[in-house]
Amino acid sequence: MDARKFVRRQIREIRRTVGKGKAISALSGGVDSAVTTVLAHRAIGKQLKVVFIDDGLMRQDEPRWVKSTFADLGVNVTIVRAAKQFFAALKGKTDPEDKRKAFRHTFYKVFGKAVRDSKAHFLVQGTIKADILETKKGVKTQHNVLDQIGISAKRGYGFTVIEPVKTLFKPGVRQVGRTLGMPKELCERMPFPGPGLATRCLGEVNPKRIAIVRKACAIVEEETRRLKKFQAFAVLMADQATGVTEGGRRRFGDIIAVRCVDSKNAITAKATKLPWTVLMRIQRRIVKEVPSVTKVLYDLSPKPPSTIEYI
Ligand code: XMP
Repeated sequence: MDARKFVRRQIREIRRTVGKGKAISALSGGVDSAVTTVLAHRAIGKQLKVVFIDDGLMRQDEPRWVKSTFADLGVNVTIVRAAKQFFAALKGKTDPEDKRKAFRHTFYKVFGKAVRDSKAHFLVQGTIKADILETKKGVKTQHNVLDQIGISAKRGYGFTVIEPVKTLFKPGVRQVGRTLGMPKELCERMPFPGPGLATRCLGEVNPKRIAIVRKACAIVEEETRRLKKFQAFAVLMADQATGVTEGGRRRFGDIIAVRCVDSKNAITAKATKLPWTVLMRIQRRIVKEVPSVTKVLYDLSPKPPSTIEYI
């Protein structure tokens, strides 16, 4: 791909589509929505409103990090606080697709309101080729692939969707980010799913359980950062396992699975051969810093037959 040409073509296309209208972009902090937002900002500047929906399912310190990183790029980000709505929608749900559906509907409700308030008619989204392929194949319904799952954004939600990077896989998106002069830290970021930590929390998603998986994810990311792997994170299992206190008393505790994969485009993936010392450090830190955890496992499964995330 000629990234410069791609950027020029997409900028032209976004300008032509939006005209003198207003567009809105929902930034998640992931590479795809970050690159899409910068692309749209270059195309239409102040006609673009950028919102970050704080759904309560983000990585540690994410809203503050996103706001300041984008301020450095000249993009003003409005934070929409909506954690309560997402947790209310997810309450009691344990089926993976039910959770995805609840997330998607809440996302479009909250975002739909932000769109109506902004008077924008165009929604700029960071859907990539892998999202579309997986949804078409029925592997899972990505929250951002409306057309593919039979929802008309125009009829259902009242806006037109623009997806400038939908023909690219992740490496292409990163290349476009670099061409746009975005900081390395942002372009090289690990993929992070739209439904956030809800994809890493088996069983019920609630604030307490999300706090556990968020802390564990932060530890895994910190301990693997220098290895520059495709994706590394923690997952909270639905059940509990027996543990023992230092005083020798039996107790039930949470189970965390550590996932670290090598992949090029997220369509296939292999478990990374992490050094034992790294795995042990992760294990020690998780049980120490997240006291409810009694067991830490390392996931060895490739995709296929597994997927990268857990729901
Ligand atoms: P799976 O779990 O299907 O994930 O192997 C493939 C890649 O996609 C990310 N992922 C998502 N990204 N919305 C997104 O924007 C989603 O609903 C979603 N589900 C999974 C996942 O992190 C991996 O990089």
